[in-house]
Amino acid sequence: MGALDGKVAVVTGAGRGLGRSHALLMAEEGAKIVVNDLGGEWDGTGKASGPANDVVKEIEDAGGQAVANFESVTDFDGAKRIIDCAVDSFGKLDILVNNAGFLRDKMTFNMSKEEWDTIINVHLTGTFNCGRWACSYFREQGKAGKLQSGRIINTMSHAGLLGNAGQGNYAAAKLGIGALTIVLAREMAKYNVTCNAIVPMARTRMTVQTPGLSAMFVEVAEGQFDDMAPENVSPLVAYLASDQAQSITGRWLSIRGGKLESWLPPQLAKAIDIGKRWTVKEIGERAGELGDLSLPSMEI
Ligand SMILES: NC(=O)c1ccc[n+]([C@@H]2O[C@H](COP(=O)([O-])OP(=O)(O)OC[C@H]3O[C@@H](n4cnc5c(N)ncnc54)[C@H](O)[C@@H]3O)[C@@H](O)[C@H]2O)c1
Repeated sequence: MGALDGKVAVVTGAGRGLGRSHALLMAEEGAKIVVNDLGGEWDGTGKASGPANDVVKEIEDAGGQAVANFESVTDFDGAKRIIDCAVDSFGKLDILVNNAGFLRDKMTFNMSKEEWDTIINVHLTGTFNCGRWACSYFREQGKAGKLQSGRIINTMSHAGLLGNAGQGNYAAAKLGIGALTIVLAREMAKYNVTCNAIVPMARTRMTVQTPGLSAMFVEVAEGQFDDMAPENVSPLVAYLASDQAQSITGRWLSIRGGKLESWLPPQLAKAIDIGKRWTVKEIGERAGELGDLSLPSMEI
């Protein structure tokens, strides 16, 4: 018996990399899958049907059920068609995995408006678009007494958590996804819908072409554990999608190789209340009591 027997899942950006790996494992665990992928290049340009079709074939060859969908997650109406595709093809939706995305790295002082907009669109707006239509579907089903539970699994990044220089567009989108994850968890709790975010790290075309990261991808000797394989990330997605994870919601969990970590949600560090308006001088005198306020470390 699989952990996702009888479930129906949408995985966006499932034609390659992490999304492909999530789709294959979730299908192996018994879910029927909408394999969504626009099929673009690493920088988001172009489109092709091959990647999504290939993953559908892989799932079917292994005895599973899947259907391809080529919509862009950046299209609000297209996102509705992604969610509708699950209902039309398999009769319902249980799980949405928001994974699609690409990069346009630049230092902020060199970044064009187009480079900013396109990354905010694919990651943050794409997650909103698909999440919005999944939530309205879950809510309708819940009100009609037809929904046992629902799952939304979003994708964040260490770039967002730590504020990586050269990725202002991507980091802002990914931390925005973290906030949206907590909001959706709160909004959908009464319908038994959970919403969590994963923070993956794996070797895909995205990370291989990222300056500074390629050094992390060393050849793995035959028989050795491949720390950077995308397949290491997917068990967390399948677990969060399963009925076992009903009590986990509004959380950020990172995974790389065999390392599984939970992140604290944003929380107050220190407070001083003087019960009146501060003067500039007083803040200067007491800011040190708020702790270390220098540039945060990138160390994890
Ligand atoms: N690989 C990592 O280490 C890593 C780390 C942190 C976060 N992530 C995140 O994981 C997710 C998957 O990345 P990946 O590394 O597998 O990259 P990838 O390039 O291998 O796969 C991304 C897929 O998304 C698809 N896609 C892009 N734009 C789309 C759109 N508008 N609509 C539908 N599909 C679209 C692409 O065609 C591609 O197949 C991304 O959200 C990425 O930001 C990855």
